[in-house]
Amino acid sequence: MSTTSSHGLRVVLVGPPGAGKGTQAKVICAKAQIPQISTGDMLRAAKAENKLPADLVAKMSAGALVPDEVVIGLIDDRTKSPDCANGFLLDGFPRTVPQAIALDAMLEKRGQKIDIVVALEVPRELLVERAVLRRTNKKTGQIYHLKYSPPPPGTPEEELEHRVDDKEEVVKKRLDTYEGMTAELLPFYEKRGNLKRVNGVGSVEDVTAMMLAAVGVGAQKSGQKSGSTDRT
Ligand code: AP5
Repeated sequence: MSTTSSHGLRVVLVGPPGAGKGTQAKVICAKAQIPQISTGDMLRAAKAENKLPADLVAKMSAGALVPDEVVIGLIDDRTKSPDCANGFLLDGFPRTVPQAIALDAMLEKRGQKIDIVVALEVPRELLVERAVLRRTNKKTGQIYHLKYSPPPPGTPEEELEHRVDDKEEVVKKRLDTYEGMTAELLPFYEKRGNLKRVNGVGSVEDVTAMMLAAVGVGAQKSGQKSGSTDRT
């Protein structure tokens, strides 16, 4: 069954820091022709333009969540844009049940709903290395990993961003935050019946094939078993 319908495709992507949400979101959004909306990217952009209050900068740098009302406001504004008319993929939002409830309420007012929630699952022991060795091209936004998908040879170091919250001790704090705050989020969506879990361990390409199958976009690789499970 395809999850894509005439009213568009609205996807929520949930997963711990370093799970590969940003990496996978870019491919899915290109295939489905919907915008990727990442609260983390929006907050970092606001910070880069000196528009993020100092207390929120400090929270992000320490690996804590920013207050619900801040990200809810960002998402409410962003999802009203014309490019969201045929759907969108939310990367890193909602992270808490109050955020999920606010999302439902804002969509309901517009006669819309979330079609599918994908939980990208990666064991904690792999996540620290994924985040610590991540580098992002400042101009293109392309995500690299110094070990698994290194930037092209000769890329000047100053073109690559090493996020301040990707230091090992902050990554561990972010993982604790994720585990604490989202412990209620997945059961919330599980009860709704629109949660799919995808195994995020394996090559980027194999995980992409499972993600696309989970959201019902594009074809799965021939002969490959789906790693997504509909636990509803
Ligand atoms: P955010 O930017 O959302 O960060 P995050 O959720 O911690 O996720 P990451 O961006 O670290 O990881 P990712 O899953 O996108 O992984 P990626 O694809 O880059 O949030 C940052 C902060 O903003 C939060 O801590 C909080 O303060 C605030 N915030 C944001 N949203 C909020 C909200 N809703 N409420 C409150 N606060 C909020 O991949 C990671 C690395 O792994 C890369 O190097 C990549 O190349 C590599 N990789 C990817 N896939 C694979 C693979 N299959 N095999 C090997 N390596 C891989």
